[in-house]
Amino acid sequence: MFVNDTHMPQRLAPSLYTSAEHLEREMERMFQPGWHCIGALSDLPNEGDYFTRTLFEKPLICWKTGGEVHTFLNVCTHRFSLLRDKPCGHMGEHLKCQYHGWEYDCHGDTQKIPDAQSFKPMAKGELGLRKFRTETAGQLIFVTLNDTVGGLREFLGDYLYDMCERWFTPDHDLVCPLDIVHECNWKVVIENVLEGYHIGEVHPNSLGVYPDEKCCSHEFHEFWDLYIDDYSTVPMNARPDRIMSKLIGYEPDYKWKHLLRYPNVVFGQMAMFTWVQMVLPVSPSECHAMWRIFCYPGKRGRLKSRILSKALRFWGRRFMSKVIGEDEAVYPAVHDGIAAPMRPRGGLISTREERIFPFQDYVLKMTGEDAFLTKERDIEEERQQPMTVATDGD
Ligand code: FES
Ligand SMILES: [Fe+2]
Repeated sequence: MFVNDTHMPQRLAPSLYTSAEHLEREMERMFQPGWHCIGALSDLPNEGDYFTRTLFEKPLICWKTGGEVHTFLNVCTHRFSLLRDKPCGHMGEHLKCQYHGWEYDCHGDTQKIPDAQSFKPMAKGELGLRKFRTETAGQLIFVTLNDTVGGLREFLGDYLYDMCERWFTPDHDLVCPLDIVHECNWKVVIENVLEGYHIGEVHPNSLGVYPDEKCCSHEFHEFWDLYIDDYSTVPMNARPDRIMSKLIGYEPDYKWKHLLRYPNVVFGQMAMFTWVQMVLPVSPSECHAMWRIFCYPGKRGRLKSRILSKALRFWGRRFMSKVIGEDEAVYPAVHDGIAAPMRPRGGLISTREERIFPFQDYVLKMTGEDAFLTKERDIEEERQQPMTVATDGD
């Protein structure tokens, strides 16, 4: 059942999806103080492996050494080359710059400098790499660019942190890493994943129809929310994931769970599949979504189980890619409509879409825009629209 029994108004004015000034405020107040999932331990299977990422225009390199994961600014302190410009690769025991070969250790301190005497005088440890705090929850790797915020558990809260430990264990196989650039404001993506109302139009061949309200429940907390769709009563032959999970001998509770840690970290679980989706703004009209989708393969070892779990991962990859692609196709249209110079008044959030309302509330509160100001701005924007006046042939 839904929490509300009446619809709610759209709270965010058009400019909050299009203004560079507002995005700056979001960055400063919502994103910079946060922790951001930049990958999974499965992205670094071996000691010495690394991957590179860009987070809020900062190039990062994430490197596994000594059994731990470290994140640095991917810029050499010698003459500022990117240390590595490939998306991923392997290093020896030191992180080595691709340009002149300076080497750094896990603290970011210089270890080996070719022709070191030509740099004299240089104090030991004088030119270390900028290092960022990195923590893991389950397999997920999180980083913060802010040195003063609390730890990851504090950011996620006990419930979400412990959930990550259960949903993304070392036994969960990474089946589908996706990195996608969407041509829309980041809030368009978050608002879309917070509601299933669009399923009938956007996902008729993948998800079918939206579930009956009786099967749905919503929970709202200060920094996160939870949606549960209980599909345990849906006939088994209508759910391929149920058939597969029975075959591999792992039968979860058959509830589709979906959570948002405001503003932009999304977690999901469907049968043996779990995923994290990070949505990061690039500009007011562009964002980057990183998905890491995992599958619990059931008991390992038996040949039958190994074959089945391979089939399951193949099916999961195809299914999730299809659903994500269907959403991606509609984002530019949603963004362009929201950003149109003239749009109709209104904007309604139904009870089925009610998760959007606290999300919008969070954005307003964190950026200092209250409902009154937003409404006033909306009205002012419409007042400033050029009027089209019909004339008689001149
Ligand atoms: S710029 Fe990295 S070693 Fe010269
Ligand atoms: Fe969707």
